[in-house]
Amino acid sequence: MLQAGAKTLSVSRGISLGIRQHCNKTPGRLTGSRGISLVSIRRVWDKTPGQLTVSGAVSGEQLGAKVKVQGWVRSVRAQKANLFLHVNDGSSLQSLQVVASSELNDPLLTFGSAVEVTGTLRKSPHHNQPVELEAQQIHVVGQCNPVDFPFKIKERHSLEYIRQFPHLRCRTNAFSSLLRIRSEATTAFHSYFKENGFVQIHTPVITSNDCEGAGELFQVEPSGPDNEEEENFFSVPAFLSVSGQLHLEVMSGAFSRVYSFGPTFRAENSQSRRHLAEFYMVEAEVSFTQSLEDLTKVMEDMFRSATEHVLAHCAEDVDLFHKHVTPGHRVTVEAMLKKRFPTITYSEAIDILNRSSENFAFPTDWGCDLQTEHEKYLVKHCGNVPVFVTDYPYDLKPFYARDNQDHSEHTAAAVDLLVPGVGELCGGSLREERLDLLRARLEEAGLEDTYSWYLDLRRFGSVPHGGFGLGFERYLQCILGVDNIKDVIPFPRFSHSCLL
Ligand code: 4AD
Repeated sequence: MLQAGAKTLSVSRGISLGIRQHCNKTPGRLTGSRGISLVSIRRVWDKTPGQLTVSGAVSGEQLGAKVKVQGWVRSVRAQKANLFLHVNDGSSLQSLQVVASSELNDPLLTFGSAVEVTGTLRKSPHHNQPVELEAQQIHVVGQCNPVDFPFKIKERHSLEYIRQFPHLRCRTNAFSSLLRIRSEATTAFHSYFKENGFVQIHTPVITSNDCEGAGELFQVEPSGPDNEEEENFFSVPAFLSVSGQLHLEVMSGAFSRVYSFGPTFRAENSQSRRHLAEFYMVEAEVSFTQSLEDLTKVMEDMFRSATEHVLAHCAEDVDLFHKHVTPGHRVTVEAMLKKRFPTITYSEAIDILNRSSENFAFPTDWGCDLQTEHEKYLVKHCGNVPVFVTDYPYDLKPFYARDNQDHSEHTAAAVDLLVPGVGELCGGSLREERLDLLRARLEEAGLEDTYSWYLDLRRFGSVPHGGFGLGFERYLQCILGVDNIKDVIPFPRFSHSCLL
């Protein structure tokens, strides 16, 4: 593990210097009366005995213990007698202050370098940090030339600037906070579904359907010289999935509540701030539905539950965004959680848009799709809280959407959830469960053969059902107030860009 050129600095009055020897002593381990380790959840990830994560160390639970901490240097300050470092390992926004004798100073201890510090945890005399690590040994595991390193000590770089370095931006406070929030939000959605009786389904990434019928498909074929034959690898055209919905619908013939959470792909030639070619979608399908309200209830509960979980479990990281990246956004998030989400129909939405004095770039005639500018206006109009828009024109929706059979203004039982700052966050619908109506629509589109298996679902124990998909990156934009979707995903993919 130790790199060539790595260097160890130690002081003679300290504890044992050999790392292996040190680990064998298991300092810092707490044992309960039944021999069970008394570790907090956070410290369960602490690696070998005596080795702590930074969050484990700053928790203050192991004061006086001899420990080893590994991480990357976030600041260095050398005084006459002492050297101060801040070390971060991604386990929390907080870094651990390391205090060492200036004998341990070394030019290789720079901002960005990787270190392993062995020492004793002490109560810190400073109010803003409960704990510091009094170092007996500092080992520089990996050097970092601060002149070439694109991030500079004490500078708050913009999200736009750090986006240029997808291989390095996780080293910044803002992006490491984002990644912890993203990870916790993933847990939050899974917890919501688990607590509410949903079964998780791994829907395929490669599929032969175009669920949305919008033609935004990436085709999948092997590459290389062996692939010159005309025939498709799978014998049929195959694509990266645009949605797991149809596979969830298969499962909803046997499970009354299912969900999936995975990557989805759209060949959208868009440079917008809310579209990606690869994004994560949370999708749910509910059987035995009575009305769209069965879906809007799940959507709203899920949004609240996930957001409350993230605010509670990632308070410091979320604060970093709400204070420094998108100041004032906290108020918007709190307002979203206070009120029930209102519902308006598409026809009401069109009325609101037509009555407004705004000059929209896109038409607002009945039958036109709502554009981002319309969605954002509607959200503001409804008090800057999430709003459901229901019953869209039948012709705007894919073949699976349930016909409301309301002839004059012909609509489908579809719903979008629009949220502040982003616009559309979720899209869903009741599915057409009536065999004759579904067959007629598929025939009209020339898709009857392609979807004969889908018609089978309506032949054998068909039930009223419906579901929705939530764009996970848009969700993060919404709760953090981040303007550009490329700043909430580790490695953004969009047209003309596939870095790394
Ligand atoms: O509204 P969409 O297209 O709905 C479906 O795909 C349904 N089959 C889902 C279902 O009912 N199971 O997509 C759902 C959500 C959108 O509301 C949006 O938040 C997000 O996915 N989304 C995108 N996010 C980022 N980049 C893109 N290109 C996106 N396209 C859709």
